[in-house]
Amino acid sequence: MKELVIRKGRVEDLDGIAALEQVCFASPWSRESLCRDMTENQMAEYFVAEFDNEVVGYLGIWLVSEEGYINNVAVSPFHRRQHVGSALIETMLEVTQEEGAGAHTLEVRASNEAAKGLYKKFGFNEAALRKGYYEDNGEDAIIMWRY
Ligand SMILES: CC(C)(COP(=O)(O)OP(=O)(O)OC[C@H]1O[C@@H](n2cnc3c(N)ncnc32)[C@H](O)[C@@H]1OP(=O)(O)O)[C@@H](O)C(=O)NCCC(=O)NCCS
Repeated sequence: MKELVIRKGRVEDLDGIAALEQVCFASPWSRESLCRDMTENQMAEYFVAEFDNEVVGYLGIWLVSEEGYINNVAVSPFHRRQHVGSALIETMLEVTQEEGAGAHTLEVRASNEAAKGLYKKFGFNEAALRKGYYEDNGEDAIIMWRY
């Protein structure tokens, strides 16, 4: 039976994660940047969502002195609205809270209703606005926190 598995990401997942970056973001992280982050950054943790041996979603976070900075959450366009993003956030919160994170934060494009909906579902609140933060289109960033 095919079932969704959420687990920690590893170097072997880099191709799948880099492919998701390309299809999900206007300014994707390169495979090299992802590789460096995963292998050299002691603060970085990755979670992947795997379905039928395929990486269909991932989440990257930095854990810095009891705070979790979520860098990226992405789900393959073919697997959206099936609670894959929710499963990634839920597992990440459980694991990183056990590891000592007392608060989590992220920034999201003001127009990204899907992502804002996902984060609000898990108790993130809008805390601040960074005007014109995104260089590609001058869009504002909303800073969200969850305590
Ligand atoms: C944001 C993203 C990760 C959501 O993943 P997903 O697996 O589709 O999300 P889920 O199915 O778990 O949805 C969780 C909640 O988010 C909200 N949501 C998700 N997609 C939505 C949409 N298109 N419109 C409005 N709300 C949406 C809903 O509140 C949903 O709760 P519900 O299913 O109980 O109604 C996905 O749309 C994505 O990869 N987007 C492109 C990359 C991106 O923008 N990442 C975020 C960067 S900050």
